[in-house]
Amino acid sequence: MANPASAPLLRVEAITMTFGGIVAIDNLSLDVKQGQILALMGPNGAGKTTTFHVIAGVHKPDRGSIVFEGRDITAMRPDGRCRAGLARTFQITQPFEQLSVTENIMVGARPFHSTMAELRKACEAYADKVGLGDKLDAPAKGLSTGQRKRLELARAMATRPRLLLMDEVTGGVDMKSIPGLIDLVRTLRSDGLTIVLIEHNMKVISELADEAIFMNRGARMVSGTPREVASDPAVVELYLGEAADGH
Ligand SMILES: Nc1ncnc2c1ncn2[C@@H]1O[C@H](COP(=O)(O)OP(=O)(O)OP(=O)(O)O)[C@@H](O)[C@H]1O
Ligand SMILES: [Mg+2]
Repeated sequence: MANPASAPLLRVEAITMTFGGIVAIDNLSLDVKQGQILALMGPNGAGKTTTFHVIAGVHKPDRGSIVFEGRDITAMRPDGRCRAGLARTFQITQPFEQLSVTENIMVGARPFHSTMAELRKACEAYADKVGLGDKLDAPAKGLSTGQRKRLELARAMATRPRLLLMDEVTGGVDMKSIPGLIDLVRTLRSDGLTIVLIEHNMKVISELADEAIFMNRGARMVSGTPREVASDPAVVELYLGEAADGH
């Protein structure tokens, strides 16, 4: 367990983010503790992906700050944040379709290795880690949705993050591939990674997350253990009726 008295690995402090007249994030604060798996939940349009964009530096918030390992990174560019130890996977996977699994992982990992041989070897190991060891030379375009999600994880891991933001890692994946993805996320955490996941599937959240934050209209509506959040009457009314079956 993380020491509750210690500073969080990531602190999101009173973030507001608007697009034109749309308030995508409304004064949101959250802490991510070292070693934790935190789940962000909420209906479509709640502001979950936008929260990741703001943490990763894709969008500059109108107000608020992002503090990572005690350092204010609100003004830092996305590549700087990546070098600082923050990585993310995308809701819609975006591999280079023509490149092989290993080559896709190599793209982001280049700055971390001095020779091509070392780079390739490391990237093959990341592919193996995520269960794509038998697909090293396969082009990304032939991969299934579950395999593409695994490739996303390998690409993120290859930048050696301490915090990984995963946007709907089980989204669009067939039911029988989900337990394998849950095991993989557990392995990454036991390797020392801290994880924030955006997830709709309540079973995945209960199996993985230490804490869940339910967002609605850009703000935190309910938070607590997955069990507490799932049984909250407002959450049940707003969300679980449609999402409990793994939407
Ligand atoms: N680049 C943008 N320009 C304008 N509006 C945006 C932009 N990005 C997000 N929004 C709006 O901000 C709100 C939050 O969107 P966001 O993608 O963060 O939701 P989400 O919780 O990830 O939803 P989903 O579960 O559907 O992925 C929505 O109303 C969305 O239309
Ligand atoms: Mg989203």
